[in-house]
Amino acid sequence: MRKRATLITGAVGEIGQALVSNLAEASDQLLITLDLQPLPDNIARSVTHIQGDILDKGLLSRLVSEYEINTIYHLAALLSTRSEFTPAAAHHVNVEGTLVLLQLASEQSEWRGTPVKFIFPSSIAAYGMPDLETKTNYARVREWEWNYPRTMYGCNKLYCEQLGIYFSMHYRQLAADRPVMLDFRSLRFPGLISAFTVPSGGTSDYGPEMLHAAAQGEPYACFVRQDVRIPFMAMPDAVTALLRLTEAPAEKLSRRVYNVTSFSLSAADFQDWVMKFFPQAEVTFKPDVKRQAIVDSWPADLDDSAAERDWNWQPEYDVERSFSEYLVPNIISRYRV
Ligand SMILES: NC(=O)c1ccc[n+]([C@@H]2O[C@H](COP(=O)([O-])OP(=O)(O)OC[C@H]3O[C@@H](n4cnc5c(N)ncnc54)[C@H](O)[C@@H]3O)[C@@H](O)[C@H]2O)c1
Repeated sequence: MRKRATLITGAVGEIGQALVSNLAEASDQLLITLDLQPLPDNIARSVTHIQGDILDKGLLSRLVSEYEINTIYHLAALLSTRSEFTPAAAHHVNVEGTLVLLQLASEQSEWRGTPVKFIFPSSIAAYGMPDLETKTNYARVREWEWNYPRTMYGCNKLYCEQLGIYFSMHYRQLAADRPVMLDFRSLRFPGLISAFTVPSGGTSDYGPEMLHAAAQGEPYACFVRQDVRIPFMAMPDAVTALLRLTEAPAEKLSRRVYNVTSFSLSAADFQDWVMKFFPQAEVTFKPDVKRQAIVDSWPADLDDSAAERDWNWQPEYDVERSFSEYLVPNIISRYRV
């Protein structure tokens, strides 16, 4: 008999580490993690970790011969800045990697006779505002608006959302017998801020970088203008959103892709929050015109009322609580020697 398991790809990343720690505490389900890198020891104890590539089809075949996968959190990806430097590699990992996993989940759904849940983190990068005037006028963007990404990463995310919907609703639509299809669910996250990991390769990284630099007493040159505004969320809320969406009854879901958010801050607001807790912080603004243009194309805020209505989504950490209860105390103890 194959053992039932949850698969988490990209488990060594920022969201992955937070999600795996949470899942390991909250459930007795067997957790299989897959990442190019080794898992830190403190997390590795509670899971079966496979160090490997999501594009390695032989590895994935061995995996399904041993485990009956009922849920997949597909987090492995190349993030936005990195994807701009290597767009073909980004397409390979972000799109072809997702396609391989969707196919695996489809086959597993047929074998099991019940849908595999496929949970996919998308991003505000799926949006593209044409100019700052539009960004100001359409502050809280809804899921179907402004789906015109200007980055390779954003194009990859938007297309993978559509692929997931296809595999959930229309896969093999011309076959004589309709297969049992997978159950794709996706969240469009804002910029995420973790107290325990420092981001790399993303374009919303200036917020968390500013905070982590301040906690270490290091100067920080912010790569966007002071007035630039995007939405953010503390990592515990990101994990909660992933878990709530996974657990939501299928009949309650009116969409397969949901915005979720917590608070919207300009870079100057972010600096004010950092200075409130680290008054000695040295923050300067040295906008990188090209990265700036990417952040300018992202919405100032997200409308997450569909998530609230369908599965009672509410962030638990507003900006005050994020800084005072989660970020600052944990970041201080992280850098205390
Ligand atoms: N962090 C954010 O602010 C944010 C916001 C929106 C969406 N997301 C999405 O959430 C997911 C996780 O983000 P994160 O911040 O944890 O990213 P991260 O860069 O910290 O982690 C990604 C992980 O994927 C792994 N990986 C990359 N290519 C791989 C491959 N071919 N095979 C196996 N593993 C591979 C990396 O080794 C890394 O550990 C991504 O899909 C990202 O696009 C993140």
